[in-house]
Amino acid sequence: MSQAGCILIVDYKSRVRRETAAALRDLDYQVDEVDSADEARDILKKSSYQVVLAETGLLPGGGFEFLLGQDAITSSTVVILMATSSSMDDVAAVMRAGAADFIQRPYGTDELCLRLEKALKVRFYEHELTYLRHERDVIYRFENFIGESPVIKKVFTLLNKVASSNASILISGETGTGKELVAGAIHYSSPRAAKSFIKVNCAALHDNLLESELFGHEKGAYTGASRQRIGRFEQADRGSLFLDEIGDMSLGTQAKLLRVLQEKEFERLGGDKTIKVDARIISASNKDLGKLIREGQFREDLYYRINVINVHLPPLRERREDIPLLAEYFIRKFAADLKKNVTKLHPDAARFLQRHHWPGNVRELQNCIERAILMSEKDELVVEDLIFMRGLVEDGEALESDQIFRIPPQGIKLEEMENALIIETLKACNWVQKDAALMLGISKRVMNYKVKQLGLAHPRWLKNR
Ligand SMILES: Nc1ncnc2c1ncn2[C@@H]1O[C@H](COP(=O)(O)OP(=O)(O)OP(=O)(O)O)[C@@H](O)[C@H]1O
Ligand SMILES: [Mg+2]
Repeated sequence: MSQAGCILIVDYKSRVRRETAAALRDLDYQVDEVDSADEARDILKKSSYQVVLAETGLLPGGGFEFLLGQDAITSSTVVILMATSSSMDDVAAVMRAGAADFIQRPYGTDELCLRLEKALKVRFYEHELTYLRHERDVIYRFENFIGESPVIKKVFTLLNKVASSNASILISGETGTGKELVAGAIHYSSPRAAKSFIKVNCAALHDNLLESELFGHEKGAYTGASRQRIGRFEQADRGSLFLDEIGDMSLGTQAKLLRVLQEKEFERLGGDKTIKVDARIISASNKDLGKLIREGQFREDLYYRINVINVHLPPLRERREDIPLLAEYFIRKFAADLKKNVTKLHPDAARFLQRHHWPGNVRELQNCIERAILMSEKDELVVEDLIFMRGLVEDGEALESDQIFRIPPQGIKLEEMENALIIETLKACNWVQKDAALMLGISKRVMNYKVKQLGLAHPRWLKNR
């Protein structure tokens, strides 16, 4: 089956079709060919294509109505129709319906390829623009950064003070604490918001590739540099450059970056023209840069340049009061996305989430809620929906066990401890035995047995008999 990224040619003129297909294959496109509307319908049921190139005369209803009826034609598919002069009347209708272009027969393959590349470029920029608008209006907003704990309030106060300045900001924090979200929100609430927010992941690329990504290169700068490339610094001019995972940058690249930050100018790789830039630098790292400096892995002078203001995002386990708030926020988000009716978080489920260690921080919580919403069948998220987390919660507690149990100097009887634990858990679960069983990792039957052994009788249980 073909993958997106391929071109489908629908044309009954076999010689022209084959020539067109050969020309496109020479340009490294993958091409499938069919010669009838029926075949097109069959293949479009199974596969999606980046481009569909079709002879209008061949398809019912002027071509485009036919194509619109196919599931595989999505808004990201570039549809180019071929028309003989007699069918040119259809062209206006076809263009209105959303075709990217039409091409009149007979055509040369050069012309076709040029039109195709242009249509793909336009579609690429349309997607880029839609995404950037989505970033600006929906994703990177301080309103989306949820938290009311005192530590987070302090972060907000700091961000409010510094977002509109030009100062370099270093955001530190464990994985999933929201560094990228904060970086984007800083940019989009700064006077630079109308210009670009450009992201570079310094861990994903090394040395030459990262340098070419940052500073660009001239044609022929190195083997394989077949075209000039505009680097990220240039793209971020008058906007912000987000250097993510900066702790992973090699010392060589750090030296070059330092020079650009000091002099605000640079040359593209293989070039001698000096380019001036005015980009605000926002960096992020989940590594301890102080430690990297001591180990000789990070330049101290660069550290002072990028760390004019330090924003530290605390791990979720140090602000457990934000967990229910965040969970409710993600419930609203995913219930809408997944078309579920869940609107609330049961207090027991909130407590259950608060007990976890959250090594993956907010991202991990977000993933857990998404998974729980998928399983949930009620209007409230309950502990049972979080059953898949049981192993995770136990791990978390193991790490914090010294805070949970304080063994008295005279010791404690295991049996007493167990009884106390059962009663406390039952209380925490509102005397619902099956929830308490879930929390303690035992079956309902074992819980029932222990309750009987302890001679416990809660009015709620009598009522249910
Ligand atoms: N306080 C928050 N409120 C709402 N959503 C948040 C919050 N913090 C993080 N998120 C969400 O959690 C996910 C992870 O956040 P982000 O990518 O910004 O983390 P990060 O610190 O850059 O992580 P990494 O170090 O792994 O790159 C994102 O989907 C983000 O929107
Ligand atoms: Mg990140």
